[in-house]
Amino acid sequence: MAYSDKVIDHYENPRNVGSFDKGDDTVGTGMVGAPACGDVMKLQIKVNPDTGVIEDARFKTYGCGSAIASSSLVTEWVKGKTLDEAAALKNSQIAEELALPPVKIHCSILAEDAIKAAVNDYKTRHGGNSSATAA
Ligand code: FES
Ligand code: FES
Repeated sequence: MAYSDKVIDHYENPRNVGSFDKGDDTVGTGMVGAPACGDVMKLQIKVNPDTGVIEDARFKTYGCGSAIASSSLVTEWVKGKTLDEAAALKNSQIAEELALPPVKIHCSILAEDAIKAAVNDYKTRHGGNSSATAA
């Protein structure tokens, strides 16, 4: 089993492990599971409500090295991005950056699903879209 150096680096030194308070209304939470293996990933974003830019991110992943590396990478990538930019992240970009083998592609899909879910959660709690004002 050949993990790439980048997978091993993120696995041994995961970035942004932890969680934010779910009750904080600048936080969006995405929780997803992989049917293929039963692994679970929680990814959270902290958003600047004025600009709609993601300022920070955290994750907790119960899963394989590739799933941990994928979520760690995503928490780094989304910082400084808008919600829409973050939601547009593709698992293929993650898989390419980490050089994931085909059997580990679903681990990167988990990370894509988790960031999308976190963005959706934030938007839902803020009136359906990032620029909506409260009625
Ligand atoms: Fe998910 Fe191995 S199958 S960690
Ligand atoms: Fe299932 Fe990686 S998330 S093996």
